[in-house]
Amino acid sequence: MLLAGNVDREVEISGWVRTKRGNKQVNFIALNDGSTIHSIQVVADMALFPEELMRRVTTGAAVRVKGLLTASAGSGQTCEIQARELEVLGESDPEKFPIQPKKHSLEFLREVAHLRFRTNIFGAVFRIRHAMAFAIHQYFNEHGFFYLHTPLITASDCEGAGEMFRVTTLDPQNPPLDENGAVDYKQDFFGKATSLTVSGQLEGELGAMALGKIYTFGPTFRAENSNTTRHLSEFWMIEPEMAFYDLKDNMDLAEDFLKYLIRYALEHCMDDLKFLSARLQEEEKDKKEEERSMELIEKLNFVLSNPFERLTYTEAVEILKNSKPNKNNKFQYPVTGWGVDLQSEHERYLVEKHFKRPVILTGYPKEIKAFYMKQNPDGKTVAAMDILFPQIGEIVGGSQREEEYDKLVARMKEMDVPVGGMSWYLDTRRFGSAVHSGFGLGFERLLLFVTGMGNIRDVIPFPRTPKNAEF
Ligand code: 4AD
Ligand code: MG
Repeated sequence: MLLAGNVDREVEISGWVRTKRGNKQVNFIALNDGSTIHSIQVVADMALFPEELMRRVTTGAAVRVKGLLTASAGSGQTCEIQARELEVLGESDPEKFPIQPKKHSLEFLREVAHLRFRTNIFGAVFRIRHAMAFAIHQYFNEHGFFYLHTPLITASDCEGAGEMFRVTTLDPQNPPLDENGAVDYKQDFFGKATSLTVSGQLEGELGAMALGKIYTFGPTFRAENSNTTRHLSEFWMIEPEMAFYDLKDNMDLAEDFLKYLIRYALEHCMDDLKFLSARLQEEEKDKKEEERSMELIEKLNFVLSNPFERLTYTEAVEILKNSKPNKNNKFQYPVTGWGVDLQSEHERYLVEKHFKRPVILTGYPKEIKAFYMKQNPDGKTVAAMDILFPQIGEIVGGSQREEEYDKLVARMKEMDVPVGGMSWYLDTRRFGSAVHSGFGLGFERLLLFVTGMGNIRDVIPFPRTPKNAEF
């Protein structure tokens, strides 16, 4: 916004009024232009400005100010502007403006998401969101990756979970039918049934098998009816894919990448992090000592300074089976034995209680993972890797890919993945196949971790969740 280097100079600033206070002689306006968490104090000598004008300077109004930037006498700020000119660009009815100069609940702010950017908290969150997106591109650019744009409309289900949003131009009232009475998608826009993609991975693999190292970073869509604080129906995913990388290389990259992003936040977003941290501390102050979570900035530094714990699914299940909450029936889903899918409560137990640091789990049972994962020699497990974070659970899902044509086709058939429609995917295994790996990082899950926010709806500007597509 304004640089300390401009002290004693004439400056001009446009922004939105956060608060106004004062008396008949002087008014103090907190003005924020969105560029930082810090509002600047504008000092308006009432002798200079008509009362009629000052009445229009209300919380929410857009204002332009010219004046002298001076070192401030007030505590908590370094500079203020002695206003010489003041113009109200856009009035805001203080009675009707939903963002009042007081603390609002996050639930309420979600209902006015079109205006919540005007609060300190969402200003901080969305500046950090930008910084993380920028850092992601910077990391990959520095490491020789190419940014590949994979399609959003697709005819294949990468994760095979059948949780896709159909894309069609057929008339829902009167769709054309084939001879069996089923909807005839041959007559649809693309000549086949299509959906919004759940992942850019399959096309990403094709790129990696020529360009070496690629990444995608775009929106993905899941029609999964999960109303949790960690699921969105539309979320952004970062998916690097690397030729000649095995599972170990993949894990090393993912750990280095996550640490780079966290370090970037600490180096570039400290003002916003401090604000978010103070807010969290305030929220937690009534909690008992042992229930309080680690202070935000300390938590980020902690993740940086410790290697992630790496173990197999099999080892994790043993730990969970013998854990206190499992024995005392405290898990909603008891861990009965090898083969169970791990729930978020299990992931968080491992990370928060048992190891007290991020965890990378490998070697999952093939039954609970997607068709494309490299099959291990034991015939039971696949070379998957999930990275589990405190407060979040799974933040990254990835694997080494099955590069052997015959094994891949056999697995696809076992899992009813349409082999015929995916010959393009299989072609990389027919022509110059090689070991390759990749992973997907959920962008909003990363932001949950970095900002300390508790609900994924609060780290994306306009969340899409079941029964909600407002704005
Ligand atoms: O584990 P997932 O489903 O993996 C894939 O989609 C692979 N194709 C990735 C790859 O190997 N290229 O999703 C990856 C990550 C999860 O770990 C999680 O962080 C995030 O995406 N994610 C979601 N984030 C928000 N809302 C949802 N509904 C999410 N589902 C997955
Ligand atoms: Mg996963």
